[in-house]
Amino acid sequence: MKRLQTTLLAAALLGTSAASMAEDAALKVGLMLPATGTYAQLGTAIENGFKLYVDQAGGKLGGRGVEYVKLDDESDPAKATDNINKLIKSDKVDVVVGTVHSGVAAAMAKVAKQTGTLLVVPNAGSAMITGPMCAPNIFRSSFSNRQPGFAMGKVAAEKGYKKVATITWKYGAGEESVGGFKEAFEADGGEVVKELYVPFPNVEFQALLTEIAALKPDAVYSFFAGAGAVKFVKDYKAAGLMDSIPLLGAGFLTDGTLKAQGGDGEGLLTTLHYADELDNETDKAFRKAYSEAFDTVPDVYAVQGFDAAQILDIGLQAAGGDVSKTADIAAAVEATEIDSPRGKFTLSRAHNPIQDIYLREAKGEENVVIGVAVEKLDDPAKGCRL
Ligand code: BEZ
Repeated sequence: MKRLQTTLLAAALLGTSAASMAEDAALKVGLMLPATGTYAQLGTAIENGFKLYVDQAGGKLGGRGVEYVKLDDESDPAKATDNINKLIKSDKVDVVVGTVHSGVAAAMAKVAKQTGTLLVVPNAGSAMITGPMCAPNIFRSSFSNRQPGFAMGKVAAEKGYKKVATITWKYGAGEESVGGFKEAFEADGGEVVKELYVPFPNVEFQALLTEIAALKPDAVYSFFAGAGAVKFVKDYKAAGLMDSIPLLGAGFLTDGTLKAQGGDGEGLLTTLHYADELDNETDKAFRKAYSEAFDTVPDVYAVQGFDAAQILDIGLQAAGGDVSKTADIAAAVEATEIDSPRGKFTLSRAHNPIQDIYLREAKGEENVVIGVAVEKLDDPAKGCRL
């Protein structure tokens, strides 16, 4: 306390405001991501992508050096409010970046909205975040759960499938992904004949696979990610369904998972806002730098982490590094076309990406683009009042 008073006195004598001194201090970034559980690998990729951008920007965001405070959120919604409050109140972070799981991120958004803390969501697609919880200080660098699902609904109808079953984890992300699929598929004449669910993060799929085999739908739409997606694809193949009932998915099914699936995912069609080896210079440079830095290939989560840092940098540059200048930060981000490895995109008024959703096919260890399923797909942002 005494040191702070002395510092403030010195600042006053030098004619420097406390605000500008704060802007000279390192920007404290709270990284609230999963380090354990089914989404652990996704958290690592997001952190890597974020740090790669910061390193390439000379170790700074918005002109300020960066200091990290890391917290493992365990993908546990029950701990989310306490965890983000700890980062804000005890660790006194300037900005929070997180997280992967929709239920955790929705709780984070609630606290960010109440406290005005700058929050960038680098994955979780919960409709809450850019819907009822939307706010000038909350941004998402990834997608809404509806977006990849909606795009696959269109693809499935175009392929002539009439009756599709869905399977996913029973929580917001899975339900919203299936909701997006159903919306587009049924609007184009298809019918979702059965919605199957397993509790998150369970990976006991056998009983439901037996049900799918008996139902004999034209195809199956699925949302799984991380370690759960590896197990699901392996089980689907082992159940002998891969050749008889085409498996479709939101791209998380095969993104960052193909190697561990050991060839069982070969040929799967998925929809996502990223694919391997896109034909743009930003992606080529990103993939090269990421591989050199981390000795592994990047995936969609790495891209979202990279773009989370990029969004912060754009906003904070415009605000002179001052995190409290929310209106300046929001105006700059909203006005910028973000040069992402996924291709250029803008943020909607609710701060969700408006972006192309690619149709990809799994070939070897890559998700190869075979077309754009929906161009510049927006999210309805239901319940967002700004
Ligand atoms: C989610 O919970 O929103 C989510 C988790 C993993 C991949 C995609 C979405």
